Amino acid sequence: MKHLRSIGELGRDGLEQLLESATHMAEINRRPIPKVPALRGKTVVSLFYEDSTRTRLSFETAAKRLSAETMTFSVSTSSVSKGESLRDTIETISQMGAHCFVVRHKSSGVPWQIAQWTNASIINAGDGAHQHPTQAIVDCFTVRQAIDQPFFNGVNVTIVGDIKHSRVARSNIEAFTMLGARVTVVAPPTLLPSQIGHWPVTVVHSFDEVIASTDVLYMLRLQSERMDQGLIPSLSEYGSQFGLTMERAQRLQSSAVVMHPGPMNRGVEMHVDPSDLPQSRIHQQVENGISVRMAVLFDVLARDGELQQLHEEVSA
Ligand code: NCD
Repeated sequence: MKHLRSIGELGRDGLEQLLESATHMAEINRRPIPKVPALRGKTVVSLFYEDSTRTRLSFETAAKRLSAETMTFSVSTSSVSKGESLRDTIETISQMGAHCFVVRHKSSGVPWQIAQWTNASIINAGDGAHQHPTQAIVDCFTVRQAIDQPFFNGVNVTIVGDIKHSRVARSNIEAFTMLGARVTVVAPPTLLPSQIGHWPVTVVHSFDEVIASTDVLYMLRLQSERMDQGLIPSLSEYGSQFGLTMERAQRLQSSAVVMHPGPMNRGVEMHVDPSDLPQSRIHQQVENGISVRMAVLFDVLARDGELQQLHEEVSA
């Protein structure tokens, strides 16, 4: 695979391969010195035009654990602040020998646009409200681990919150359904996209109606930075209807799995501390972020046959 820009482009086979590869990377991460020479000589550039904590740091950590060189591009301290265009920025960094761009941008489609200006591989780390494929792979990996089964047939996934502005929701719905899950979304009508009728999901407006039958509860952040008008009456009203409160958490099955991609809005969608919630897998999502991103970087950057070789070395 040359690029990873969307779950659709990856497809079910690609998704399964990356999940398998990530289990080998997790093996490396359990070693006392979690580092292998797999991507020596390769340069990975993180190009983040939008803020990020876990995605950027987990990509950079993943690249370092595979012995790649890393370059970090920070919008506020670069020539973007002098008006340099995206195209000139990409061409300039490509000249420095970049093999892979990990890109996050507020506009949908930027990863496809950039791929026309460089021969390097492109990994989408979030484009507007469109796609965030590595988060979806991390989340499938985390669910697999939690339920201890490779496919999600018969698993009820409930995604709650700001579906309209969420690239995570778009990528995760595709990935979860590819692996066989049944997905329900819970949101106020103003936070649902107009095309929701074409998505492979059931829409419900009452959180209380579905909480007890949920196997995987996926809470989303209210994306106030993407809202240009008042879509909710107030934060407290939203929190009382769509937030994970202690009363709701007590109605979860003991075997349920609770997830959130971070960053959390405490007191808005999350009223419980993940450490007080035995069903929470939120910390595992962060931990798995490194193994999955190692698998993705390795897949786009290694030569044919090297993956098999690495798997054999790890399993030996
Ligand atoms: C998500 C994102 O940036 O899309 N966060 C993340 O990557 N961990 C979700 C969000 O910002 O709400």
